[in-house]
Amino acid sequence: MSALERPLEAVQHPENWAPDSWRAYPAMQQPHYPDPIALKAARSELASLPPLVTSFEILALKKQLAEAQEGKRFLLQGGDCAESFSDCESGLISNRLKVLLQMSVVLVYGLRMPVVRVGRFAGQYAKPRSADTEVKDGIELPSYRGDIVNSPEFTETARRPDPQRLIAAHSRSAMTMNFVRSLIDGGFADLHHPEYWDLGWVGHSPLAEEYHRMVRAIGDGVRFMETLSGEAVHNVRRVDFYTSHEALLLDYEEALTRQVPRHWGWFNLSTHYPWIGMRTAALDGAHAEHMRGIRNPIAVKVGPGVKSDDLLRLVDHLNPENEAGRLTLIHRMGAGKIAVELPKHLEAVRREGKRVLWVADPMHGNTESTSNGFKTRRFDNIRSELDQSFDLHAAAGTRLGGVHLELTGENVTECLGGARELTEGDLERAYRSTVDPRLNYEQSLEIALLIVRKRGVQSLPA
Ligand code: PEP
Ligand code: CO
Repeated sequence: MSALERPLEAVQHPENWAPDSWRAYPAMQQPHYPDPIALKAARSELASLPPLVTSFEILALKKQLAEAQEGKRFLLQGGDCAESFSDCESGLISNRLKVLLQMSVVLVYGLRMPVVRVGRFAGQYAKPRSADTEVKDGIELPSYRGDIVNSPEFTETARRPDPQRLIAAHSRSAMTMNFVRSLIDGGFADLHHPEYWDLGWVGHSPLAEEYHRMVRAIGDGVRFMETLSGEAVHNVRRVDFYTSHEALLLDYEEALTRQVPRHWGWFNLSTHYPWIGMRTAALDGAHAEHMRGIRNPIAVKVGPGVKSDDLLRLVDHLNPENEAGRLTLIHRMGAGKIAVELPKHLEAVRREGKRVLWVADPMHGNTESTSNGFKTRRFDNIRSELDQSFDLHAAAGTRLGGVHLELTGENVTECLGGARELTEGDLERAYRSTVDPRLNYEQSLEIALLIVRKRGVQSLPA
């Protein structure tokens, strides 16, 4: 019987689970709201607002991720470390979309397989922090936990967790999603017109040259197909785009976790593809409890120091039926640690026959501080972790099915190195992130080209 035909009452959703059952478990990284009545009011308002995505889209993505597990697709997941309310702006959203589209074209062309495109946006508003409070000049205030919770300025008012921000985050996510959907439906992603995706500041970058050669080759291919068949190739006019964010703030996730008329079970309708961050991935924690009961495809970040037995227990807990497409493991070990940390997990998961999609996040294990006080990442370390990821999977007989990146379409100078060889001195010029450093357009495209050089079946056009 298909999922659609299964009557709701006949379905077993996980035992002892409800959208609020996470409340009985230790919940890390949650703010302390000073006004519980205001929080309750915001939660019930949020629960009455329309969802941001549909169960049909969620299940379609799960199917694509199942195909990625089988090596028939490659996942490209990327966007800001954290969105901010003030960045909910047309130029920033469309530039980020452009970079992701350009990268996906490179990957489709070079890997000769469809790409699953997932943005880290339309809900990436909550951030895990290393401490609950921050002290400056003897004053202690709550840490900034992302725009969904409070504001970054170091004042008491700005740092006070405000439940109305839950509603604002939902609205901004809806606006972002609406704009992305409209752009795509309107033909923004049409392969006949990849010039729509060019970014003004790129100028005469050598990478842009390489990219344009590839696009010309694709355009020739599309035109050849159209000449051959005598009709337009329609499915190159639009692409699927999905959303993801770290499901960190559980009041928000719970309010958008719902049942729907046409599918059994519960869906987190705030995003297609939520993930659990490294700091909240405890087996007996509230985040795992929330994720256990929803039917979305979900991901978990896996950092250094995790024991393979614990990882296997978490895999069973989150995907007890070993369902294809359900679970993604995103490893983020750091270039210096991956060769020691990853192989044991690959071996254990393979040995136990667990179905997971393996994805590399070469960003979060490679964060460092410069002497002039910037949080940065070296392009060479990012490249090296990615490179090693492919090699370690190949050696273990497993498959790297995607990448998870922090990037932006703006001309920022946050990560060192890359084609323009950004130096520590350059960081001052255009460092805009309030949290983690992102790849700029050129560095992002370089990563896509690198993946193709590493794994591509198609040599790049001369
Ligand atoms: C993130 O993705 O921004 C993040 C905090 O990652 P991690 O949980 O892997 O540290
Ligand atoms: Co980050």
